Amino acid sequence: APPAVKRSLLQSLCGLLHRPSSPSIPGPPCRFLIGNMTELMQDHLPIHLTDLAKRYGNIYRLKCGNTTMVVLSSGDVIREALVKKWSDFAGRSVSYTADIVSGGGRTISLGDYTEEWKAHRRLVHSALQRCCKQSLHDVIERQALQLRKVLINYQGGAVDLSEDFTVAASNVITTLVFGKEYDKSCSELQQLHSCLNEIVALWGSAWISALDTFPLLRKFPNPVFSRLLREVTRRDEIIRKHLNQYKVQSQDNKSTDVITGSLLEGVSKHRKDHDVVLTDVHVHMATVDLLIGGTETTAAWLNWTVAFLLHRPEIQTKVYEELCTVLEGRYPKYSDRHRLPVLCSLVHEVLRLRPVAPLAVPHKAVRDSSIAGYFIPKNTIIIPNLFGAHHDPAVWPDPYSFKPVQERFLEGGGGSPRALVPFGGGARLCLGETVAKMELFLFTAYLLRDFCFCLPDVEAALPDLRGVASVVLKVKAFTVVARPRIRPLS
Ligand code: HEM
Repeated sequence: APPAVKRSLLQSLCGLLHRPSSPSIPGPPCRFLIGNMTELMQDHLPIHLTDLAKRYGNIYRLKCGNTTMVVLSSGDVIREALVKKWSDFAGRSVSYTADIVSGGGRTISLGDYTEEWKAHRRLVHSALQRCCKQSLHDVIERQALQLRKVLINYQGGAVDLSEDFTVAASNVITTLVFGKEYDKSCSELQQLHSCLNEIVALWGSAWISALDTFPLLRKFPNPVFSRLLREVTRRDEIIRKHLNQYKVQSQDNKSTDVITGSLLEGVSKHRKDHDVVLTDVHVHMATVDLLIGGTETTAAWLNWTVAFLLHRPEIQTKVYEELCTVLEGRYPKYSDRHRLPVLCSLVHEVLRLRPVAPLAVPHKAVRDSSIAGYFIPKNTIIIPNLFGAHHDPAVWPDPYSFKPVQERFLEGGGGSPRALVPFGGGARLCLGETVAKMELFLFTAYLLRDFCFCLPDVEAALPDLRGVASVVLKVKAFTVVARPRIRPLS
């Protein structure tokens, strides 16, 4: 027999031998018909799944309808699945509602692991890398200075900064993608953001996921689903308009320092050279991916940082003193990060405690495989519980405490940023990791260099640090005063 046939026979035999000897994965008892559905409907799912890990271990299973999910709650098991066995677990589950929000599975984030997806991700990755190399630092610096202006204009008033953070993060992405930025008064930006936010929130709701689990429900009227459809149509109209504007403006001269230009050029080149056909629809959906992936995540992280700093104001002073000593008055560059350990530990500690995509995006086993010695059949859904991994007491002593300085990451603190997994890993590693890391560092450095964040008055309540968990983990709205530092450094 040819070697390939021999190999596959051998693999099947190994599979058969492996299966019975493999222990079954622990998990909560399944209820008749609904399985473990109630476990998935908890108000703060990352905390609930982490609590279940205390009872069932760092790998356990949940059942919902015909679907088996395996929840991974430690860095070791997450890395085994996502990095070491990346090609076994690189899939995404295809579902009725995911198809609707992803233009038939054509986004990178929700597309399954196919040749088309691989070509699409490669194309967007190289466009993003090229554009980042040329302009990312300048783009973030400009937005950080813009944000500074907005905060100064508040003149010490108590404000909720979440919208300003969203505008700053969004402007970084829209500048990279279209070469355009907006201000808060631009109604189109507001429309685009409100609809992207709505889509993420609606898609995460139980009313929508029930349609995937129980197809019969699709026959009944569902106002939440109708709203989702409306928002998807609105999103596509706005993005289509911008892509068309870009095409008209740039005509034959597509600038590759703007991602859209790079993508359009890449798509037409790709068409000639490869079997897989990538089209303008892929450019459109990549734009959706970058806007959704790159806005609320970064904005939520900035909000968390301010919230934690209000609880521990002395940390702001430590970061400020470090900035003053090391930079002697100038604004920081990303290359300064190795000389700013206190600032870096703050960034890491907030990422650890509040990984803003706490359950990543569920993966799917594309073939039979194993994790931690347990057999995992093809099509099993894998939930990387990043929040759980970041609160694992075996790795992080006193895991629920905010310890950004000395105690955690600095010399002798025992924690290593390498043990963090806020961006997932392997084939599905966050596509915007480079953008995000530079943003978190520069935005925080600029903000803490020029402002001290305080509560509006002594009576004001500190922000609630539990958060609201959907696809993105956000802090509940709070107000803060951004007080300019008395002697600005330049
Ligand atoms: C996916 C985290 C910012 C674009 C992800 C995933 C995580 C994540 C955990 C899922 C990985 C997986 O499925 O295993 C974060 C965090 C951010 C951030 C913590 C900021 C603090 C960004 C930015 C962009 C972006 C700025 C765009 C410029 C994406 C895309 C995916 C993704 C497109 C889908 C990747 C795929 O499925 O192949 N991100 N992200 N993210 N992220 Fe981010």
